[in-house]
Amino acid sequence: MRQPMNTSKTEIFANHEELSQWAAARFAEIATRAVKARGRCLVALAGGGTPRRLYQLLAAPPLADSLPWAHIHWFWGDERCVPPDDAGSNYGQVRQIIFDRVPAPEENIHRMRGELPPKQAAQDYARQLRAYADAGLDWPRFDLVLLGLGADGHTASLFPGSPPDAGAASPTLAVTADYDGRPAQRVTLTPPVFNRARQVFFLVSGAEKADALAATLRGAHDPTRWPAQRIQPREGEVTWLADEAAARQLNDRSAS
Ligand code: 6PG
Repeated sequence: MRQPMNTSKTEIFANHEELSQWAAARFAEIATRAVKARGRCLVALAGGGTPRRLYQLLAAPPLADSLPWAHIHWFWGDERCVPPDDAGSNYGQVRQIIFDRVPAPEENIHRMRGELPPKQAAQDYARQLRAYADAGLDWPRFDLVLLGLGADGHTASLFPGSPPDAGAASPTLAVTADYDGRPAQRVTLTPPVFNRARQVFFLVSGAEKADALAATLRGAHDPTRWPAQRIQPREGEVTWLADEAAARQLNDRSAS
């Protein structure tokens, strides 16, 4: 069986701040290059706490003054089924940190409609993706996908124990999972979408992620237990950005 992450790179940073600064600088490079090459940059954002600092850096000078806002299109890798102004909304978090502060055109913001029931929200988002589809696909090839890693090994809303081929036939999936002891209703993009991205950045910070990161990157191929192993773009690059606390169980400092 093909080994996981055999085309991935790992970048290790002293702390979360350095990780976020690096990611923000790379984000700006990728956006500028994509706009130059294709006239637009399509990104899929992550929820959770880890990317918040990156989002702050994008929305503040100097990057806020130089990003090609008119040409960046914002999508999400997953969403919780809550209204957009709920504190748990991944879209709502980015609205407060980025969109309320920068000249991002509203028509470039493509949120998952978390206020709908999961199945309907998933269908609605599949429609939205189709409007930006690349040739031969029902969805766009993202220039950059941001993902996180849960301490339990989940990424986006692909949870441990879910079948690795769930979503194989569809770009979006309605998910009902027990998460942190509570039932969670979510919508997620699926591995076929992530695996056509040009770049994927996993942002992983904190000692509580060390076991999951080591198992995902160095452990046996078990994508049912470690869903991030499902993410292996065919014609793209995966970069794992980890701080030292999260990376402490990786036995070497760079992987390739
Ligand atoms: C979400 C996510 C999720 C997240 C991980 C890591 O909606 O919560 O997209 O997959 O990326 O749970 O979250 P933290 O960055 O908060 O650790």
